[in-house]
Amino acid sequence: MEKLVRFGVSMNERLIEQFDAAIGRRGYTNRSEAVRDLVRSYLVEQEWQQGDGEVAGTITLVYDHHAGPVNRELMAIQHDYHHIVVSTLHVHQDAHQCLEVIVLRGPAHMVQTVADRLISLRGVKVGRLIVASTCEPLS
Ligand code: NI
Repeated sequence: MEKLVRFGVSMNERLIEQFDAAIGRRGYTNRSEAVRDLVRSYLVEQEWQQGDGEVAGTITLVYDHHAGPVNRELMAIQHDYHHIVVSTLHVHQDAHQCLEVIVLRGPAHMVQTVADRLISLRGVKVGRLIVASTCEPLS
């Protein structure tokens, strides 16, 4: 068990009221857990922006599988990066629209490259990359 460190933070009243209201809406019952989550997100983002650390994340795509060669192109790119693509979940939303969630793990710059190639494909209507974690253990 790692040692807990307590520290004091000074903030003006209005800012802390807004913070308390915002974290309350998200379901946090205390500031400490909210601050820990913010610090973790910040560290993940920093690691991510450094570029060569290992990260894990997801790409969510919405596309019409009838719209041109998008299906085949999505598959080809995922095979090109088979060492980065861990898993894919495909949901047929209706007769045309598909929702795909792709889990990736690898060097940050490569995860970004795969995301850029997939999201920019013609026929992809919505595309989002979420970098959820570095591959370093988070406390
Ligand atoms: Ni489908």
